[in-house]
Amino acid sequence: MKLKDYLTQRSALVDRALDAFLPKAATKPATMHKAMRYSLFAGGKRLRPVLCLAAAEACGGALEPAIPAACAVECIHTYSLIHDDLPCMDDDDLRRGRPTSHKVFGEGIAVLAGDALLTVAFEILTAAKGTARYPLPTLIKELAYAAGSRQLIAGQVADLEGEGQKLSLRELKFIHEAKTAALLTASIRLGGMSANATPAKLEALTAFGRNLGLAFQVIDDILDVTQTSEKLGKSAGKDVAAQKATYPALLGLEKSRNEARRLTAASLAALKPFGKHGETLRAIGDFLLQREY
Ligand code: IPE
Ligand code: IPE
Ligand code: MG
Ligand code: MG
Ligand code: MG
Repeated sequence: MKLKDYLTQRSALVDRALDAFLPKAATKPATMHKAMRYSLFAGGKRLRPVLCLAAAEACGGALEPAIPAACAVECIHTYSLIHDDLPCMDDDDLRRGRPTSHKVFGEGIAVLAGDALLTVAFEILTAAKGTARYPLPTLIKELAYAAGSRQLIAGQVADLEGEGQKLSLRELKFIHEAKTAALLTASIRLGGMSANATPAKLEALTAFGRNLGLAFQVIDDILDVTQTSEKLGKSAGKDVAAQKATYPALLGLEKSRNEARRLTAASLAALKPFGKHGETLRAIGDFLLQREY
């Protein structure tokens, strides 16, 4: 299957499952369920759930057992975006090509929609059966740790505290690994776990995810400088304005591009143990390096 078709098909699968897992828009309180769905179905790339499914397939697993984890990681990701855009954080008006949640629903409802998506992620994950090597509590802990105060939130804290600061490359790398690579890696690992991956395969997926996740945020930083808001579906040029610690700010564009290439190559090299079963993951890695939004 061509990568474009693969991404379209797998995203559609995820969207259908998310729609079924989430309370209907009319369910009380309707404002809340509208707000949750507004952000979730605004047309994100669905990268994390698709990676979750592709990792399961690379390990020889079926799609079905990986669906709850795939939906859960997308709910966590969407919550993190709603909160990331709040005036008290990055203060953004545009997300996924639409006005941000707080612009449409007000800040109170946006905070709560984020809270509700974070919470429902774990409700959804309980639909996963777990496997012999990875029972359900292991999956829950994997997601909780990646989304929690030592990973994703730690990265967001350091990101806020880093505004206007001249950070070292080591400090910047920590921010990017924590705020972005951690959830991306967990998405991939949860896919592997849903397929009862061998410890060696799970290790390979972990190395793939860490490098790919860091590359992903480096590219996000680059796109903020080089693309238009229209293309990105979110406000471009915000990082410089907010004096964010980013790769282009610290290293310049050219070195940042080289770093994204190097990290992507490292991620692809980690897939070696999968042989031809790693083809889809490899294609996704290549595609992310080339992406323009
Ligand atoms: C944006 O993530 C936030 C980052 C961690 C860089 P994505 O670029 O995956 O956003 P969507 O899901 O496609 O909107
Ligand atoms: C977002 O990083 C990371 C998380 C939401 C956890 P950014 O602040 O760079 O993401 P964008 O550029 O707003 O999508
Ligand atoms: Mg941010
Ligand atoms: Mg932001
Ligand atoms: Mg960004």
